[in-house]
Amino acid sequence: MIFTVAIDGPAAAGKGTIGRAVAARFGFAHLDTGLLYRAVGAKGGDPVTAARTLCDADLARDDLRTLAAGQAASQVAAIPDVRAALLAFQRRFARSPGGAVLDGRDIGTVICPEAEVKLYITASSAARAHRRWLEVGGDATQVLAEVIERDARDMGRADAPLRAAEDAIVIDTTDLPVDVAIALAVQHVLQSIARLNG
Ligand code: C5P
Repeated sequence: MIFTVAIDGPAAAGKGTIGRAVAARFGFAHLDTGLLYRAVGAKGGDPVTAARTLCDADLARDDLRTLAAGQAASQVAAIPDVRAALLAFQRRFARSPGGAVLDGRDIGTVICPEAEVKLYITASSAARAHRRWLEVGGDATQVLAEVIERDARDMGRADAPLRAAEDAIVIDTTDLPVDVAIALAVQHVLQSIARLNG
């Protein structure tokens, strides 16, 4: 079965948690596409060359989850040739047999506009910064400033800016317990499968 769940949204909105849970529930493969951009940013040197030569070892680094890696990722992600170098791999993954969940910023708009389910997961910047701060610690004001700066860069770039696809279902997780957000996402996938089978 070819079936894609595209999950987009700003940093720390819950995309990864929801994506992993949906993938586990349906036995789909899961790709955290942010990791690709984090690995390109962390590799150093020319970002376009880094994207073209990205390998498993680059993705296995243990320093990709830091705030600095997030900022570096968002800078290289604004370079059109970097995005172009990562496009085919993501598209193949999205349409691979057995079903796939991809989370990122442009999955429903650019990578897989034909996705069977498109979710846009969002939350207030204060809630997202608080979650990120619980993960990484440090100065909470600084974490909030970095979240806001990264959102602005991701939404304002010319190539594949972060935005909800017109047909995306928006889930705001600001005041939503994580299990409820996951249940909502699962319900949308079940409805889509039922429509395809009916
Ligand atoms: O999701 P994550 O925080 O790991 O993403 C890091 C950065 O990678 C984002 O801020 C964004 O600039 C970039 N990104 C992107 N397109 C994607 C996934 C991530 O531009 N599909």
